[in-house]
Amino acid sequence: MRSFFLNLMMSSLYIQMPKAELHLHIEGSLEAELLLKLAQRNNISLPYKKVDDIHRALNFRCLQDFLDLYYYGTNVLIEQDDFFELTYAYFKRCSEQGIVHAEIMFDPQSHTNRGISFDKVIMGISNACQQAKLDFGISSALILSFLRHLTEEDAFRTLKQAEKYRDKITAIGLDSSELDNPPIKFKQVYQEAKNQGYRLTAHAGEEGPVDYIWQAIEILGVERIDHGNACIEDHALRQTLINYQIPLTLCPTSNVALKVISDIKHHPVLDLLHQGLLVTINSDDPAYFGGYLDENYALVQNNLGATEQDLSLLARNSIVASMLNEAEKQKHLTFFKL
Ligand code: HPA
Ligand code: ZN
Repeated sequence: MRSFFLNLMMSSLYIQMPKAELHLHIEGSLEAELLLKLAQRNNISLPYKKVDDIHRALNFRCLQDFLDLYYYGTNVLIEQDDFFELTYAYFKRCSEQGIVHAEIMFDPQSHTNRGISFDKVIMGISNACQQAKLDFGISSALILSFLRHLTEEDAFRTLKQAEKYRDKITAIGLDSSELDNPPIKFKQVYQEAKNQGYRLTAHAGEEGPVDYIWQAIEILGVERIDHGNACIEDHALRQTLINYQIPLTLCPTSNVALKVISDIKHHPVLDLLHQGLLVTINSDDPAYFGGYLDENYALVQNNLGATEQDLSLLARNSIVASMLNEAEKQKHLTFFKL
């Protein structure tokens, strides 16, 4: 067993490594304290009165259980300032954890479908991104994610609303209830997004079958897969992910909280890393799953026995798998060449 002091040294090591977070839903970073504060500010009545009441509700059997609470939580986000405050709070956490770059997903449909304008959502979030660059030196990119339980037509409407803000949004993503909502459902809208010059990602193989990962790659043409755990069942797929170095944004604390795996000891991150896949670790919805990026590194270190070399490769991969340009990547990667 590694000594307490060795673990302590290693934990400060990964905090010091330059890291990118590539799989983070900004609505999933809504901490209970801020949720209650915004509910009060916006006159929204909730069944929760105290932080503990919310924390007690964080007990999920599956993805849908979580999504029900997550969408319920978004109801307190009303004004542009609310989106700013939420996003800025996330960057503050990043600044304490050695995160140099964050690729942030946001779900416009969960706001526009309850009457909040696209403008308020995007301006609040993107102003916070600019402020974070000034205050903490953290760069970022925004990923507009379509809700896959809604129709492709609804996604097209959202893409249209985004046109005016094209310069603020880097990529398109696909999230929400995976089962029975295959990537192919969004084939046309992804084609249109590609024509408009967006980069493409999608959640696939979190709860859904391995075929959804193939669809995301071959039909939607994504450059990166969010989660992708189901690839452990398909040798040919893993070979494709290795050959083309298609990144996976894995989320260990999320997988435990949503019972995607029965125990952290069974998490495939290190096996996949050692096979040569470009895997990264991320926090997904940190306010709901009990951990920001450092807790995910700690979980992998403490339960899977990740070595210093593994942790360093995971951090390095996060830069390589990001949407930063080559020069920016190289700037961060010099740390790993020392
Ligand atoms: N999976 C799918 N959709 C989501 C998630 C997730 O983990 N978090 C927020 N939306
Ligand atoms: Zn996610």
